[in-house]
Amino acid sequence: MRKTKISGIGHYVPENIVTNKELEKLMDTSDEWIVTRTGIHERRWVDSRIGTSDLAVKAAEKALDMAKVSAKDIDLIIFATLTSDYNFPGSAVQVQDKMGMDTIGAFDIKAACSAFIYGLSIGDQYVKTSQADNVLVIGAEIQSTGVDISTKGRDMAVLFGDGAGAAVLQPSNGSSEILSTHIHSQGKYLKELWVEVPTSIESPCITKEMIDEGRHYPQMNGREVFRHAITRFPEVIMEALNKNNLTIDDVNMFIPHQANLRITQSVAKRLGVGMDRMYSNIERYGNTTGASIPIALAEAYQEGKIKKDDIVILAAFGSGFTWASAAIRW
Ligand SMILES: CC(C)(COP(=O)(O)OP(=O)(O)OC[C@H]1O[C@@H](n2cnc3c(N)ncnc32)[C@H](O)[C@@H]1OP(=O)(O)O)[C@@H](O)C(=O)NCCC(=O)NCCS
Repeated sequence: MRKTKISGIGHYVPENIVTNKELEKLMDTSDEWIVTRTGIHERRWVDSRIGTSDLAVKAAEKALDMAKVSAKDIDLIIFATLTSDYNFPGSAVQVQDKMGMDTIGAFDIKAACSAFIYGLSIGDQYVKTSQADNVLVIGAEIQSTGVDISTKGRDMAVLFGDGAGAAVLQPSNGSSEILSTHIHSQGKYLKELWVEVPTSIESPCITKEMIDEGRHYPQMNGREVFRHAITRFPEVIMEALNKNNLTIDDVNMFIPHQANLRITQSVAKRLGVGMDRMYSNIERYGNTTGASIPIALAEAYQEGKIKKDDIVILAAFGSGFTWASAAIRW
């Protein structure tokens, strides 16, 4: 069977920076509360009529450049997002159209913060089994237009940001390789972090009353999410290491989903890893859900923190609950 490598990676974030101080004008919050509880100082929020697919195209163009492939070479698009431009179809088909790609397979996956690793896992199977030669895996989100920016929604609104990251997967003839991927879920906790409406359970699926009640906004039990996250992250990281007979010391860089600096610090402590090997950029972008891992991976690479043959571990936890990891030899 073939091996898969990540041959290109790129990211894009909107230019508009929203600081904690600016949020103080919109809701009853404070820079001090946000920094202490989450580590976030600012995030990017789109400021014009721009779609998730537009952010995705900008990130994808960079990934294609690095991989030295053209849009016509891509034979599959996997788009990790909770915030596709429209309710249906998914945004993958918009990327296919906007980038002038052939009539290739293109689909979205909705696995929240774990979705990019889920996408990597799916793409890896396509390349390994020779079903595709150039897979574009995207993680992109516009969360800012979907959160309640009043005091009522402050627990969620301060956390989330917009952005996009993308990777090109190709067959590997050398040492670079996606060594393994690991995906998990536990649906009994779905209501701990969810958006209820629009819902196919009710008819019509969305009403003025539902909107008045705020049921179209994301809802989260922050403490419960935190509690599960700090257990599942180390567990799924160890699963990736054990599968490949690796130890914590073999890992050059951990790229965790950027949920909250306190979660990342807690995971680092539980694993006995210094923060110098635990990549973090949450202070600048907040939680960009499905986009956070490819953005962090692209930045870590650009900053020279990931080099050829390095062992890189990706790990995520989020709504579902879902959680996932990937072990990569770069
Ligand atoms: C959301 C989170 C930062 C809240 O921190 P916390 O220490 O658990 O805080 P609590 O929810 O207990 O709230 C403490 C108080 O702060 C208030 N508060 C909530 N959001 C606030 C905000 N943005 N600004 C100011 N105060 C806020 C609450 O209303 C509460 O007030 P009360 O004590 O008067 O009721 C934390 O639970 C967390 O990070 N959870 C994980 C979230 C996450 O990562 N989600 C995405 C996973 S992919």
